[in-house]
Amino acid sequence: MRGRGSAGLSWGIIGFGWVARDYAAPGILAGGGRLVAVADPDPRARCAAAAAGARAHEAAEALLADPGVQAVYVATPNHLHRAVVEAAAAAGKPVLCEKPMAATLGDAEAMTAAVARAGVPYGTAFDQRHHPAHAAIRGAIADGAVGTVTAVRIAYACWLDADWAPDNWRADPARAGGGALIDLAPHGLDLVEFLLGEPLEAVAALTQTRVQGYAVDDGAMLVARTARGVLAQLHVAYNCPEALPRRRLEVLGTSGQILAERTMGQTPGGDVWLIDGRLGLRRPLPVPDAGASPFARQMAAFARFVADGSGDFSAARDLHTMSLLARAYAAQECVPCR
Ligand SMILES: NC(=O)c1ccc[n+]([C@@H]2O[C@H](COP(=O)([O-])OP(=O)(O)OC[C@H]3O[C@@H](n4cnc5c(N)ncnc54)[C@H](O)[C@@H]3O)[C@@H](O)[C@H]2O)c1
Repeated sequence: MRGRGSAGLSWGIIGFGWVARDYAAPGILAGGGRLVAVADPDPRARCAAAAAGARAHEAAEALLADPGVQAVYVATPNHLHRAVVEAAAAAGKPVLCEKPMAATLGDAEAMTAAVARAGVPYGTAFDQRHHPAHAAIRGAIADGAVGTVTAVRIAYACWLDADWAPDNWRADPARAGGGALIDLAPHGLDLVEFLLGEPLEAVAALTQTRVQGYAVDDGAMLVARTARGVLAQLHVAYNCPEALPRRRLEVLGTSGQILAERTMGQTPGGDVWLIDGRLGLRRPLPVPDAGASPFARQMAAFARFVADGSGDFSAARDLHTMSLLARAYAAQECVPCR
């Protein structure tokens, strides 16, 4: 595959549920690719795939044996990511896998080893990296728009009750690997590293099981720090009414602040301001290509990565993000001081 052009990559999707159907499949098409096959045990998902013009398989193995599939996007529940990615690697298929990379750190380690052994391109689908507003914020930080960055604060929350879906695997610790923390915090952790261009190295967290009454955390607060001393604070939650302000990103620096509202999420748009640190005046931060779908940009970027190795995908980096999550869950267990 390497050396070929990136246009028109033929994708197979394993797990054709909410995110695959509503965001990834349209993103593949808008990014210049083709959706040629889908694998999903749910007949309703296969029906939707056939209606979209894709070959519909019940089992992932059949899709992976299809020579017409050049790359695979994985959007099954979290606990199945490992087996599917290992099978894709063994079949020699490049693979873009949804976040979190896996339900456990051990699974993520096995996946990293499998793709390295097979030599297949791998990426975790951190679509926030590909949001036009976040690309603009990264550029502004690099240009010194806020001076020396001191902190990044992110709120990313939603309402997810026990009946949120007919089979709500997100509330099942064995299938999800955790709750709001493992589901929502990977986006923020990865985004902080993307915006700053440096890894987080220290992390701590507290979780709560406050509202929803299921076995996984319905909220969490994380604090983290980069090697150069930038602090990050993430509030993630499944217990926040959707009508409240719940998607907010702030980058604080010695000469200004960037404030982004409603940019975190699957869709383009949102508002981004640059606030001057001397007078406190705010003006909009220009966002090139503001209406482009983060998923379309992500799919096109992965196609280029498959074609020539260019771009910003790394299994090792995504494994590091999984290790931050594992440390966040472990850290909160040590806290009680009664
Ligand atoms: N990047 C994002 O913004 C984003 C948003 C939502 C979900 N996600 C991630 O995407 C993944 C899927 O989430 P969802 O909300 O679409 O879930 P979902 O429950 O809507 O869809 C999962 C699909 O996987 C199918 N499936 C189950 N077992 C399978 C198997 N063995 N082989 C193939 N398919 C199988 C199910 O039938 C279902 O259609 C999760 O890892 C989730 O964390 C990412």
